[in-house]
Amino acid sequence: MVEHRNQPSPFPSSGTGAHPMSSPSTAAEQAGTPAAGLDYSPGFGNEHVSEAVPGALPVGRNSPQRAPLGLYAEQLSGTAFTEPRHANRRSWLYRIRPSAAHPRFRRTDNGALLSAPFTDSEPDPNRLRWDPLPLPERDTDFVTGLYTVGGNGDVLRRCGIGIHLYRANRSMVDRVFVDSDGELLIVPELGGLLVRTELGLLEARPGQVALVPRGVRFRVELLDGAARGYVCENYGQPFRLPDLGPIGANGLANPRDFLAPVAAFEDVEEPVEVVNKFGGNLWAAQYDHSPLDVVAWHGNYAPYVYDLSRFNVLGSISFDHPDPSIFTVLTSPSSTPGLANADFVVFAPRWLVGEDTFRPAYFHRNVMSEFMGLIDGAYDAKASGFAPGGASLHNMMSAHGPDRDTYAKASSAELLPEKVDGGTAFMFETRWPVVVTAQAMAADHRQQDYDAVWRDIGRGFPGTAPADGPVRSAGPERTR
Ligand SMILES: [Fe+2]
Repeated sequence: MVEHRNQPSPFPSSGTGAHPMSSPSTAAEQAGTPAAGLDYSPGFGNEHVSEAVPGALPVGRNSPQRAPLGLYAEQLSGTAFTEPRHANRRSWLYRIRPSAAHPRFRRTDNGALLSAPFTDSEPDPNRLRWDPLPLPERDTDFVTGLYTVGGNGDVLRRCGIGIHLYRANRSMVDRVFVDSDGELLIVPELGGLLVRTELGLLEARPGQVALVPRGVRFRVELLDGAARGYVCENYGQPFRLPDLGPIGANGLANPRDFLAPVAAFEDVEEPVEVVNKFGGNLWAAQYDHSPLDVVAWHGNYAPYVYDLSRFNVLGSISFDHPDPSIFTVLTSPSSTPGLANADFVVFAPRWLVGEDTFRPAYFHRNVMSEFMGLIDGAYDAKASGFAPGGASLHNMMSAHGPDRDTYAKASSAELLPEKVDGGTAFMFETRWPVVVTAQAMAADHRQQDYDAVWRDIGRGFPGTAPADGPVRSAGPERTR
């Protein structure tokens, strides 16, 4: 297996994402390089330009009569050709073989990877919580280890999401995965991942997230002995940065902290299995070469990695807990303004200074559905039972909030400025109820009595009820 990358580029940096591949990269250094040793091209949704071999990119046109160096030119579109410019995503790839050169895909076992709509279970209004998914005992790579908790929408209508966990104890070998059904937002909780994509290499460790766009082929290798985490498979419109409104031009996740890979390719003439998730099922084909053979590319449709510690957390400096939308990292919009197909929200370390304020998340019921995970530490609205690698689901209109112990503590605490830095939690929030798969409902690691965290919450209101009688109205006398 031969890998070529990080060779000097003849292209100057234009300040719009063009990335000289001489190492180290000044731009990437300025933006921060979470993966030591890898070069990146910073920026979100901008035009990146990268070549692993000098002269591999055509100049001034995308599809010359003959592409440089005997490469094949190919456009990869993540949006329809005619979508508005601000939403349009596409990249041009210059590769050793065109992607069209492949044999027939044949159905293969889906394992525990499922897609919405789910027909083996029914929507459930109960609050649900899971302990961490046990690590595998048998050899399991990233694809084999994908496990679907739930989801919504319809994979064939390109709306909704699939919510998955992954666990692995070995790297993918001679195997490549591609998700035609959606983009994959990967949230590691245990162990680092090296993600080798068609467009280059990403490294994602716990505390960072990686996104692989719909249709981009990739292989996951483990940087540690085992790996576990969460995946939001977004069937809908690609994640983008949320609008900032009165916040202004900066804040929350800043564009330059998103890092796309630089071109890196394999020149492999050996059998490689390509597993393709299409229409909710897995299909596989045996290629005679690696499809990770893109020598150069340019465009704005690219994988990226983001370090959650770069999230600029904003909040109240007077009173009250802002709605958690203030913590949105990425949003996948729907056709209704402000209504997200999915939001990725992070609860990162921050200061709490609100006066006369119940500082943890308030009690609430929400038309949106909330799937939460924990990357490390503890979540400030749950005193116990929510472990790193675990998960909770508060479905549409289900009542939830701080648990009994957290409420008791926070409602009587002295309100000094307080740094909340005991952990990093996140949420996949979505517009439709999440239907939990039968396997996740029946799982041994699902907690059977999550409701207990709100049991025996004391009554503070003295009321007007006699000790042995019903509660009476204390308001104006009723007239009949
Ligand atoms: Fe909530």
